[in-house]
Formats: sequence, structure tokens, C-alpha cells
Amino acid sequence: MKLLSEKATCNSHGQDSSYFLGWQEYEKNPYDEVQNPKGIIQMGLAENQLSFDLLESWLGQNPDAVGFKRNGESIFRELALFQDYNGLPAFKNALVKFMAEIRGNKVTFDSNNLVLTAGATSANETLMFCLADPGDAFLLPTPYYPGFDRDLKWRTGAEIVPIQCTSLNGFRITESALEESYRLAKSRNLRVKGVLVTNPSNPLGTTLTRKELELLVSFVAEKGIHLISDEIYSGTVFNSPKFFSVMEILIENNYMSTDVWDRVHIVYSLSKDLGLPGFRIGAIYSNDDVIVSAATKMSSFGLISSQTQYFLSVMLSDKKFMKKYISENQKRLKKRHAMLVKGLESTGINCLESNAGLFCWIDMRHLLKSNTFEAEIELWKKIVYEVGLNISPGSSCHCAEPGWFRACFANMSEDTLNLAVQRIKSSVDSSDVISTNVDQNNPTNQNTSTSPKKKLFSKWGFRLSFNDRER
Ligand SMILES: Cc1ncc(COP(=O)(O)O)c(C=O)c1O
Repeated sequence: MKLLSEKATCNSHGQDSSYFLGWQEYEKNPYDEVQNPKGIIQMGLAENQLSFDLLESWLGQNPDAVGFKRNGESIFRELALFQDYNGLPAFKNALVKFMAEIRGNKVTFDSNNLVLTAGATSANETLMFCLADPGDAFLLPTPYYPGFDRDLKWRTGAEIVPIQCTSLNGFRITESALEESYRLAKSRNLRVKGVLVTNPSNPLGTTLTRKELELLVSFVAEKGIHLISDEIYSGTVFNSPKFFSVMEILIENNYMSTDVWDRVHIVYSLSKDLGLPGFRIGAIYSNDDVIVSAATKMSSFGLISSQTQYFLSVMLSDKKFMKKYISENQKRLKKRHAMLVKGLESTGINCLESNAGLFCWIDMRHLLKSNTFEAEIELWKKIVYEVGLNISPGSSCHCAEPGWFRACFANMSEDTLNLAVQRIKSSVDSSDVISTNVDQNNPTNQNTSTSPKKKLFSKWGFRLSFNDRER
């Protein structure tokens, strides 16, 4: 007799990708300036550690918030006993106001439509439980956050069907890509329940354009399906173009009185904008009462602790501080982003132009031995083991084109980021640098006299031949 369940023993957890394997390699040999200066630098973790000093100084000035106190009086007993799965009203009110503030107060949110969850991980899974039965599908633009294979599919039995986006248009979502994905799902006899996007995108670091959002909304309206917008990075937009939340688009286009209004759901979390992934603070926002009620019941499997809710209700309500925090944090992200982009550029490596997030989407297609995912993994291993950087290969994000990588820049000190860039530079400089005239925007066109010279890491023996590429 099998003593363990199918779920416990099945292989569908989604955590065996190179994204997570890179973390394991890092754990075995983590870089430390003093203890292990030759170790692997972790650039595969989308953590925001840039503004802890601001949070810590606020904590110093507001000891009550974390000391179980209100106006100097202990509220320990109140918090210790609190177990309402609707959440602390003060916290929910503060969170919806903060969400509106990040969206430039163009939209307001009703705390009655908010469901608290243990991070966006739980929010996304809970939405899947509410919207999809096992075998139902959600369409996701590629490349996408590798954790979705676990969060959306593992326990729910839902399926992900890719919406293939390519570098030809900067990985933008197009109508034909949406329709193709829908057809693919149908051809696999899957019932399509919705589309899920991350805005700003992980791993691209770009915000969806108004045009893309309008396209998405009209697509789900026409197909009669749901749209989930994971807006976990909404506070990290450090450059123009500005961020549009899907809610703004719904309001501007008068969808409020249509059935689409109830079929668009937002996921949010404070893991990235405030850099608090350990606190497990997430939320679902939906205009559909049935979903809010079902998700609230489900949320009892992953609540946010009462002391965390209390502490954040006080901090988020300090509007002056939060405004300053968000703008200062964005400035710091912008600076870090520029450091990485410029450093890579000086070695002949370009990044997709981006304006948000905690990472860059790096184009290393010209460094591949052949245009295959095998060559991408080969290059990735060299970068992890020889250069000493854990970055995430595009294949772990289901990118349709080999040769793209995600590198995070906000989970380390400035010195460590400089060292990471230095390591890449040395890898280039120490080798016989060779050059090619390949136009990266048009890899099939090799003979462009205007295209920039691209340096290659010849040390690794990777010679580019775009003709080798699998199409
Ligand atoms: C797009 C996206 N959604 C959800 C999550 C999970 O976040 P949380 O820590 O709030 O569970 C992440 C984390 O990297 C993410 O990038």
C-alpha cells in the first residue's frame, strides 16, 4: 500500500528548474566579502534590500508599532487573541490607501474587496483555487516568473499555457500571440479560464503599456474569461513610462458597469516594494463578492499574523514617511539599475530597456555556442561556476528564445554589485576578445555594416553562429 499521497510524491512541484538549482549552488558556496571572497554572488534572488535603513530609522522613532503597544498602552492580549480571517480593519484600510497612493491616486480601493494572504504566492494560488478546476488553463505571457509553475499549478492542478512573446518587439503582448495561445490551449482540450500577467513584469522589468492593457481587457471581455494582474512590483517603477494599473484602464474605458469588472483581479504584496518577503504580506483585490468571500474562507490556511498586521497598519498610515520611502527607494533602484546596465554595456552585453523591478533582462544571445537551450544552460553553468554569479537562465522563465538571462541588482551591497560587474569584465578581458558584426535586433541578418561590434567570451569557446539557431 502506498503510504504517501500522490501530491506528496508527484514531481510537479516545479521547483526542479535551473532557477531554483542556481539557488542551491549559491547556498553551497555563498560569496562573503571576508569569509568567502571567491564565492558565488547571488543575483538570482529578487529581493529589495536597498532601503532597510529608512525602515529601521522609522522603527526607531515608532517603538509602539513593534512593541505590542498603542498610545503607550500594551495591546499584547488583543493581538495574541486576534484570529479573524477578515484581517485587522486598520491594516486593510491602510493597505488599500497605500495601493492607491502607488497608483498616483488615480484609482481607489475598497477594503471590503480586499483579501489578505500570506504573500503573493498564496494570493495567486488562492485565486487559482477560486477560478480554475484541475485541468483548467491560464494563459501567461513568456518569459514569466518561474515560481508560477509551483504557485499556480502544483496544488490546484491548473495548467499554464504560454503566450509566446519575443525580442522582436521587446517582448510585448500582441493580439496574435494571445489568440495563438488560446488556440493552443483549445487544441490541448483545455478550458481557458483566464490570463495572468505581472505588471511590472518579472523577469523583464518593464511596465505594460496602455495599449497592451487595453488589448488584454478586450481579449478577456470577448472570451468571457478572467484577468489576473500581479502588481507586486508596482512601487518599484523608477523610470518613465509610468505604471498603469489594470484598474485604471477599466475605469477609463467604462468597464465598471460591465461583467468584465468582476472578472479582473489584482494580486499585491509588500515583499518587493517594502522589501519584506519574510513578513508574508499579500493580498487579492477583486470586485466579485463571491470570489472575495471564497478567497477569505481559503485565506485561513495562510493568514498574516496579527502583530505583523498591527505593525504595518501603523507604518502604512504614516503617509509622509511612506511617500518619502517609495520615492527614495525608486531613486536607489534607478541608480543600481544604471550601474548594472552600464557595467554590462562596457563589456558588450546589452539589457532589455526597462523601467521597473529589481532585475535586468540580459541579452547574451551572442555568447551562445548555438541557438539552443542546451547552449544556454552550458553558458549559465560557466557563469555560475567560473565567473561566480548566480543569474537565472531565460529557459527557467519559459522564454521562447535561448540566450536571455535575469540578473537581480537590489539584494546586495553596491560593492558586491561592482564586484559582480568586475567579474564579468575580467572574464572578457582575460580572454582573447573576438568580435562579430551581428545585429542583435535582427539575428538572422548577419551582414549589417551598421551593427555594433560584439565582444565574446572566447575563453569559454563560445562562437556565435546565428545560422545554427533552431527556429
Ligand atoms: C511576480 C511575482 N509574483 C509573486 C511572487 C511571490 O511573492 P511573495 O513573497 O509575496 O509570496 C514573486 C516573488 O518573486 C513574484 O516575482
